Amino acid sequence: MKISKRGLLIGSTAAILASGLGASGAMAEGTIKIGVILEYSGPFAVQAKEIDNGINLALEQRGDSIAGKKIEIIRKDTGGPKPDVAKRLATELVTRDKVDMLAGVVLTPNALAIADVATQAKVPFVIMNAATSIITAKSPYIVRFSFTLPQVSAPLAEWAFKNGIKEAYTLVSDYGPGLDAEASFKKAFTAAGGKIVGDVRVPLSNPDFAPYVQRVKDAKPQAVFVFVPAGAQAIGLMKAAAERELVKSGIQMIGTGDMTDDAVLQSMGDAALGLVTSHHYSYAHKSPHNKAFTDGVEAIDNSLRPDFMTVGGYDGMIAIYKVIEQLKGKMDGDKAMAIFKSMKFESPRGPIAIDPATRDIVQDVYIRRVEKVGDKLVNVEFDKIPSVKDPGK
Ligand code: PHB
Repeated sequence: MKISKRGLLIGSTAAILASGLGASGAMAEGTIKIGVILEYSGPFAVQAKEIDNGINLALEQRGDSIAGKKIEIIRKDTGGPKPDVAKRLATELVTRDKVDMLAGVVLTPNALAIADVATQAKVPFVIMNAATSIITAKSPYIVRFSFTLPQVSAPLAEWAFKNGIKEAYTLVSDYGPGLDAEASFKKAFTAAGGKIVGDVRVPLSNPDFAPYVQRVKDAKPQAVFVFVPAGAQAIGLMKAAAERELVKSGIQMIGTGDMTDDAVLQSMGDAALGLVTSHHYSYAHKSPHNKAFTDGVEAIDNSLRPDFMTVGGYDGMIAIYKVIEQLKGKMDGDKAMAIFKSMKFESPRGPIAIDPATRDIVQDVYIRRVEKVGDKLVNVEFDKIPSVKDPGK
């Protein structure tokens, strides 16, 4: 029988449709599929790459098959903070590609848009960064391996008051994580006995930080607490603060570690020296596990210093492997969630566990100071608050 190329194509497509499966579904018998949604292009492309590097290290270490099944990663790009695109991609991944799990996202708006898709499809969604407290409450199929803004902001507020800061201003990015950071810092700082003397919120898209920094400077507070998303915005804020001589004028600047993210810290130069921040991970964290992690990531991609996003991607992917192993490759959304909920393991950042009540991460939070070690600017951890749950819940 002679079949033209075109005929073959039509014939096979018809057969796949008749079997009621998508093309990949038909071939998927021995395959476990993970749909990774990230902001690979656009203003958060560096952060997406950081997460991807962590995923890639886990894949390299654990291999591409478990329990006789092949692991297939299907990557999708939202192109930035685009909830509509994120939702469409998640929908395609669960309906057409029939993924067994979803993972990823740097940004809160993208995570929130995917929550309903995870619920309807009963597909676990492993959050690798997005850090607004409410996210895990939006679907019983969400589990988070990154952090929350209240988790790192409240301990910093307490540290600040104990260390002589009695009055503070807040400057945050005007969306989920910024509002969480502002509320939790204010609550913990006033509860400790401190006074909030003013606040300002900066738009998420294309912010010009100069007028906001000026407003803080004019108010002459003892200190300013800041949150902006890691990356280009943190650089923009630091530049505006340096130009307006905010710190030189006597105002102490503190913030979450998003501001002094390892990926961009070096490019901030000496203006960042001495800044105190709180976070769940530092490149300079001293442990054999972190040394193996940073060496491993740098062997894969030497262009970016591993950061907290990388550790979120790595731990999230390691957790996915653990679930597949325990299920012996027989994937089931509800059974997978039950395993995620009792998860506990040693991360490059220190010990981590999932709180079964909230599906959010419990971890040590570190207070760090930017120092020069050799020729590198790094966040040196000098204080630790152990086993912090998200206080935003
Ligand atoms: C978020 O959108 O949840 C987000 C983004 C960047 C960060 C932290 C949180 O550095």
